[in-house]
Amino acid sequence: MDKYELRAIILSGTLLSVFFFAVLYNSYNRKIDMPTCIPFNKTFEKSEVKQIDEGLYEVYLVARMWSFDPEEIKIPAGSTVDFYLTSKDVVHGFHINEKGVNMMAVPGSINKITTRFDEPGVYRFVCNEFCGTGHQNMAGSIIVK
Ligand code: CUA
Repeated sequence: MDKYELRAIILSGTLLSVFFFAVLYNSYNRKIDMPTCIPFNKTFEKSEVKQIDEGLYEVYLVARMWSFDPEEIKIPAGSTVDFYLTSKDVVHGFHINEKGVNMMAVPGSINKITTRFDEPGVYRFVCNEFCGTGHQNMAGSIIVK
């Protein structure tokens, strides 16, 4: 094997490991889990914010051209929220910048992610998949009190 080839292999292996551990470390520190796809054969039609227990919420979000339903979610600080996300029409995105939450809203399926809101404030969520002429208007807020 050529020595430059070997160096390239070692360098790419090292970089791959660094990126892999950076993702693991970051997701552990931000207390978020990986998005999971739930293979339901029927997606939900209605949006809902459900309190399951003290500090535990389930949010059923419906994305459509060009809004989220619900657009505003109010929860107390220290809450853990399971987001269930689906789309009525095309593929949309769901991104909460401060929480590192990023998943897709796919018609006909449900994606789920869990995150915790310890700090009070307003957390904006936006659509980050280009979905048509009203894409830039797709946003909402999570108000943590
Ligand atoms: Cu929905 Cu962009």
